[in-house]
Order: sequence, then C-alpha cells, then structure tokens
Amino acid sequence: MSQVMTAGRRLPPPDAWPFEARPLTPALGARIEGLVLADAMSDATFDALYAAFLRHQVLLFPAQDVPPARQVALARRFGDVQVHVMNQYHADGFPELYRLSNLDEHGNPNGRHPDKGTLAWHTDGSWQRRTGQATIIYGEVMPETGGETHFCDTYGAYDRLDQSWKQRIEGLRAMHNLDFSRTRRHGEDPMTEAQKRAVPPVDHPIARTHPETGRRCLFLGDHAESIVGLSYDEGRELIEALNDMAVHRDLTYEHRWTAGELILWDNRCTMHRATAYDPATQKRVIRRCTVIGEVPA
Ligand SMILES: [Fe+2]
Repeated sequence: MSQVMTAGRRLPPPDAWPFEARPLTPALGARIEGLVLADAMSDATFDALYAAFLRHQVLLFPAQDVPPARQVALARRFGDVQVHVMNQYHADGFPELYRLSNLDEHGNPNGRHPDKGTLAWHTDGSWQRRTGQATIIYGEVMPETGGETHFCDTYGAYDRLDQSWKQRIEGLRAMHNLDFSRTRRHGEDPMTEAQKRAVPPVDHPIARTHPETGRRCLFLGDHAESIVGLSYDEGRELIEALNDMAVHRDLTYEHRWTAGELILWDNRCTMHRATAYDPATQKRVIRRCTVIGEVPA
C-alpha cells in the first residue's frame, strides 16, 4: 500500500501519516485521531488522509464541530461533489449538502422517516454513470437508539465468491435505477417526472475493479434493478442472491453514532445501510455530501 498512487501523486505510507488510524475491525474501518477537520488541511495531510481512505475504506472522526462550509471544502478535495437530483433535501445554502432530518420546524420529531431507501444495503450514486466515490456524513443530532450506519466490505464480498460465481458474473452488467429503489422503499414520496428524466437508468459491471487499488469488488446494492441480457425475473433473482451473499458479519462495521462524529467512506468498495429508529420519539439529523467518482470498469 505504500506505493499507492492517485492522480499522479505518490501517497505516504502509514508511518508517515500525521494522525493516528486505529482499525475499527480486522476487515475495514479506522478511527482517525489527531485531525481537526475545521482547520485548513495541507496537501500533505490530505494525501495521508487519502491513503488512509484507500487502505481502510471507512474513516470515523471523533465528535467535533465541522461547519457546513468545511464539510463541502473537504469533499471538494476528493473531487467533483454531487448536487443531488432530489433537491428538496438541499441544506444550508450548499446544493452539495443533503440533509436527512425527521424534525419539524420546532425541532420536534415529526414521525416520518426522511429516507427509507437508506435502510437497504446500497452504494451511493450507483444510479449515475459516474458513481459515488467518497461520501461524507456529519451527524448533527443522533437518536438514543437505532439509526446506526452499517458498512460492509465489497472487496471481501467478491473475494469470497467461489470460482463458479465469479465466472457466472464476469462480464455481466446491471441496470441501476434510482426510481426503482426509491419507489420500492419509499413509494409515498415519489420522484417527479423531471427528476426521473434527469437520472435515467444506467448499466455498470457487477464485478468492478477499484480504479486506484486495482482490487476487484462486487458492485450491486439496492439501486440495481435488472441484468442486461437476462429476463427481468432472472435478473432480480441473481441480484437478490448476490446482494445477500455480499454481506458477511466478519466483514462488516456497525457504527452507533454520537452527535458531532463524521464518517467518510469509499462507495467503490463498500456498501452501507442505516438501521431503523422511531421517528415519532427519536431525533436524527445528518448532513451528507457525495463526491462523484469514475465510470466503473
Ligand atoms: Fe447512502
């Protein structure tokens, strides 16, 4: 990993990182100690952070104040930041930020879950041609119970497929469709016709190669609707089977949030989901931004 390059830059090895990265599980995730995210970040520190991001896939930062402008500025260091098509969620005057909240105008729980689509395993922005690279979530208000975020390692998901499964999916492509997953999980708040037209279904390989680490990963999740060249029903069956096989307990990190924490993850080699909470009695507010990555190959 010490030789990892990105965009022509050689990234520093772990012993040269100006912060501590403590693994959260043997498989994925690290807690980053000693970095104040509200401060300006040098290029050298960002390169170390990027190396940690590639190595650990999920980075957790202890509770600290990260104003919206700093969150967007951090995301811009990674690349182009998505302006989400579901514009009703835009937050704080930054179209790049997306707030999910169950609070009413008085700050009380309103009884509605803001995005039930997040409860199923998925990878952000897989419904776009250029899919999600990093997602950065800041926890503004967190419930006492529920509302966790779970991450699974999709390098491991691919590695653990047996040879016949690897052969079966080689070259297959899945159609990813935000309207499909949104309607399925969150039918009471459908996309408008204009929103649907803005994000038509796109196809991506089921087994992709991470563009920076070169490792193979399984790339499906809840936005995957059908398989190119298979009947709809055959495709659904295959997607459901692979999505089930993708999650291994020992390749999963389950995070119970404390308000003020920030988590940054690589959508190319992980999937994530939120767990349920009671939106009538508990408060949960997060703000999120997603960096747009590459066309998967
Ligand atoms: Fe997500």
